[in-house]
Amino acid sequence: MGRVALVTGGSRGIGEAISKKLKADGYTVAATYAGNDEAAAKFTEATGIKTYKWDVADYESSAAGIAQIEADLGPIEVVVANAGITRDAPFHKMKPEQWKEVIDTNLTGVFNTVHPVWPGMRERKFGRVIVISSINGQKGQFAQVNYAATKAGDLGIVKSLAQEGARAGITANAVCPGYIGTEMVMAVPEKVRESIIGQIPAGRLGEPDEIARCVAFLASDESGFINGSTISANGAQFFV
Ligand code: CAA
Repeated sequence: MGRVALVTGGSRGIGEAISKKLKADGYTVAATYAGNDEAAAKFTEATGIKTYKWDVADYESSAAGIAQIEADLGPIEVVVANAGITRDAPFHKMKPEQWKEVIDTNLTGVFNTVHPVWPGMRERKFGRVIVISSINGQKGQFAQVNYAATKAGDLGIVKSLAQEGARAGITANAVCPGYIGTEMVMAVPEKVRESIIGQIPAGRLGEPDEIARCVAFLASDESGFINGSTISANGAQFFV
């Protein structure tokens, strides 16, 4: 049995591709999902990857879910904090609930996912923390004050965790996907999406697998000296 990897939001979109890639690379994968039972059941049927249902915004649920995975599969050595939502609106129209939902899920959700696995990683002197940020955390985005704040926050999280974990053999890194052909991007109005694609020098949306391969690289034993870094995979749309 390979190392155990947890992927939040791991049954759909980019997370689905990450779960499958890690499984193909020999990891024992646990994928979480928040609400879509049907998609999760289909995913498990197709991949054989076990799914667990909880809301990453809730600390107690996250801690209990993680304890269950460790009881079922063994200690989690790779954690991919991928779960995320959008609630886009121009700032003057953004409601406090839209701000709060996105902060709770995308930012506090990362805390809630990593915090329960951190002590075990420190004890075992090995861990891989990978947070899925976004190009929009790097450059900002019209109508995404909430989302961009969380994705920029992810970069602060990994840079801080990297310093705390380095001596314990733990790395923490971020991947910043550009616009990837997932349901989240397909939900953007078509005209807006076409204009976004026009701003991508590669001339196309990215594919979930292109992000999954970045994650697999950061998860590997060989990437131990890469710590606190960000891999941008965005078709040359934006450079930091
Ligand atoms: N830059 C500048 N102006 C923009 C703009 C932009 N990117 N997008 C829209 N506008 C303008 C419009 O032209 C319009 O101007 P006018 O009023 O002069 O016509 C105005 O802003 C929009 O005002 P509306 O009242 O029509 O806006 P709305 O309340 O209907 O909201 C929207 C529309 C939510 C902004 C919608 O356009 C949208 O979803 N935009 C996409 C936002 C986006 O890129 N989200 C990323 C999702 S994918 C993702 O998040 C994954 C990832 O990590 C990359």
